[in-house]
Amino acid sequence: MSREAWLMNPLLCLMGLSLFLWVPCGWSMEITAPASVQAINGTDIRLSCTFLSCYKVNHKQFSMNWTYRECENCTEETFFTFQQKFINLKLDRFKERMEFSGNLNKNDLSITLQDVKLDDEGIYTCYVMNLPDRYRDHKKILLQVLTEAPPERDSTVAVIVGASVGGFLAVVILVLMIVKCVRRKKQGLNAEDQKTEEEGKTDGEGSPEEGAK
Ligand SMILES: *[C@@H]1O[C@H](CO)[C@@H](O)[C@H](O)[C@H]1NC(C)=O
Ligand SMILES: *[C@@H]1O[C@H](CO)[C@@H](O)[C@H](O)[C@H]1NC(C)=O
Ligand SMILES: *[C@@H]1O[C@H](CO)[C@@H](O)[C@H](O)[C@H]1NC(C)=O
Repeated sequence: MSREAWLMNPLLCLMGLSLFLWVPCGWSMEITAPASVQAINGTDIRLSCTFLSCYKVNHKQFSMNWTYRECENCTEETFFTFQQKFINLKLDRFKERMEFSGNLNKNDLSITLQDVKLDDEGIYTCYVMNLPDRYRDHKKILLQVLTEAPPERDSTVAVIVGASVGGFLAVVILVLMIVKCVRRKKQGLNAEDQKTEEEGKTDGEGSPEEGAK
């Protein structure tokens, strides 16, 4: 290979890689948030929303809204917005309980709702637009409020049961394998025994016949 070819290969590789990394950019901005979250009445819950964008956030162009609605068809109320900085609209329903717990430098727009009430159930939507990324995106989080912690015992019981069943099966399989091995060995020995026995038999059978003749 010529010297140029040696140089070109890694160069082409790098170009391909950068093209691969670069292409999805500008196509869309991607938001990550859980589809549903469960919280226990009276506790604090963090609703996470992060985004991937090809462009670094510029405070003058960045736009974000967090909205709440009780049901799919209910009216949407904005409780957090961004206009060069975060603005908490302090809706009556949340008052001082809603706070921003993300970090814009890390593309994290998470919020924390303190002292969750049963009435806080509903759909929380995180809207993001990060110009010059052309697309606005959003993700919905369904918040469910439980009155008590889901029984953890069930899961531990399930784990114990699963582990015991798994262990038992492993032992059964091991025993079966040993039994099979032993049998095979025995069969091998038996086959040899039978061969010698049969040989003996034919010998034995042969002689009386010969004697009869
Ligand atoms: C929820 O918690 C609040 C206090 O944090 C309490 O007053 C209320 O009774 C609880 N509701 C239920 C249904 O457990
Ligand atoms: C929402 O409204 C649409 C029509 O406006 C209706 O078909 C749908 O059943 C409604 N959904 C709920 C959950 O009420
Ligand atoms: C947030 O809300 C404001 C006011 O309604 C709107 O102008 C802006 O486009 C919204 N931003 C996003 C990302 O939805």
